[in-house]
Amino acid sequence: MFKLASLVFALAATGSTYAHGVVSSPPRRQPGSAFQSACGLQMYQVASSDQYGNQQNLEGVNINTHVLLQPACTLYLCRGMQFGDNTANVQHYTAGQTVDFKIDIKAPHTGVANVSVVDTTTNSVIGDTLYYIPNAYSTTSPITTNETSFSITMPDVGGKCSTAGNCVLQWWWDARPIDQTYMSCVDFTQ
Ligand SMILES: *[C@@H]1O[C@H](CO)[C@@H](O)[C@H](O)[C@H]1NC(C)=O
Ligand SMILES: *[C@@H]1O[C@H](CO)[C@@H](O)[C@H](O)[C@H]1NC(C)=O
Repeated sequence: MFKLASLVFALAATGSTYAHGVVSSPPRRQPGSAFQSACGLQMYQVASSDQYGNQQNLEGVNINTHVLLQPACTLYLCRGMQFGDNTANVQHYTAGQTVDFKIDIKAPHTGVANVSVVDTTTNSVIGDTLYYIPNAYSTTSPITTNETSFSITMPDVGGKCSTAGNCVLQWWWDARPIDQTYMSCVDFTQ
């Protein structure tokens, strides 16, 4: 009874109290059949019904359905989104190239955000943070244009990103006060 009540509450809470955001350009990884086979049907349904959702929201699906988290379901890298669903959108960036980002925020919540190159084979950041927003998408002050529209300069990744799928530009937004973390990933080669 208690479990049912908390499940109903958890489902009801997935509405307006959640912050929401994605990278709208360059093209990001989105949920598809590769995500579904990695993370299961229920998580796929949640992820595809609201692409603006957060990692904790997907963790909640996993807990509520008692599905064992499969290693392939990388919720802490690209929020589980898979290269297999984005093979048609692999960008090619040369060292020193300017890459424009557009972020679509549906609901703000104060946190920090950054963009980094991430090695997807180890989920580790390559090189320096490329863009950092210390007071990101605040609910107490207006969101400035440079939080949703900015450019990064592609570093020289030293040959680590020659294979498609091995590297992403990851936008990461962590709203600690409400424990919500968002990730969008752009696949690229160099
Ligand atoms: C930047 O984002 C990464 C995830 O891509 C995270 O692990 C790291 O802590 C963030 N860095 C800062 C300074 O917020
Ligand atoms: C965005 O612009 C504002 C106003 O010029 C500035 O104070 C802030 O540091 C900038 N933020 C970033 C992330 O560059």
